[in-house]
Amino acid sequence: MLSKIIDAVREAGKLILNADDIEVASKDGGANYVTKYDFMVQEFLCKRLKEIVPDAGFVGEEGSGGHEKAGDGYCFIIDPIDGTTNFICNYKLIAVSVGLALDGEPVLGVVYNPYLDEMFYAEKGKGAYLNGKKLIIKDRSLNEGLLCFNSSPYNKELRETLFKLLKELSYQAVDIREIGTAALSICYVADNRNAAYFSLALSVWDYAAAAVIVREAGGELMTVNGENIGLYGTSSLVAANRTAMKEFFAIAEKVSLA
Ligand code: IPD
Ligand code: CA
Ligand code: CA
Repeated sequence: MLSKIIDAVREAGKLILNADDIEVASKDGGANYVTKYDFMVQEFLCKRLKEIVPDAGFVGEEGSGGHEKAGDGYCFIIDPIDGTTNFICNYKLIAVSVGLALDGEPVLGVVYNPYLDEMFYAEKGKGAYLNGKKLIIKDRSLNEGLLCFNSSPYNKELRETLFKLLKELSYQAVDIREIGTAALSICYVADNRNAAYFSLALSVWDYAAAAVIVREAGGELMTVNGENIGLYGTSSLVAANRTAMKEFFAIAEKVSLA
């Protein structure tokens, strides 16, 4: 099943690589954009994934069928293009993200950047991989790596708290990054490009697939309040190795997250 899903995601990536007139529209009258390729890729994936797991449900960011909860049985959780603003602005950092949950628990994740031909994937209990190479998270301090964050482009009311927290954390890390795609930011924790990543608000399709990858690489995931991550609606998220996670919470405790 995993290799068939990987093939489908790679093909979806080709649609993005061949994109020409992308037809940008605003979803909410603000900076939350969508293009014809977001819809096209989701439609393509739903069709292909249905052939692989016929009785699966779907949670997707775009279009019809996009409810926000993975219920009983198999359910695919799809973000056709994670990093739409990067896509529009011609930054080559985007991901096609496909997670699979079973009875509400994430069991498989595939995250693909077609521009770099980087395919991250993991199955519960079977390890995480990048282009066939096993991923193992290094246990290290925040001050030995990059801290990646999410600027909350669609929840600007969070920015005051976000930047207060970020300022404190930034002194502990080698440097900070905002790369415009949550799915890749989390996968980059799995392959040690980032020591940690945090966001005050993500949708389930932003992290469902990457969550399996980071866990299978030996990393930890929590909400910024130290709770387990659920598979519904919106959630905050911290992904890190064990030591960096402890350091994150030691600093977050000093900053009011209310
Ligand atoms: C967004 C990206 C971005 C993050 C936003 C997400 P989209 O997803 O992951 O990095 O800051 O919170 O919603 O809209 O490009 O699929
Ligand atoms: Ca997304
Ligand atoms: Ca998206």
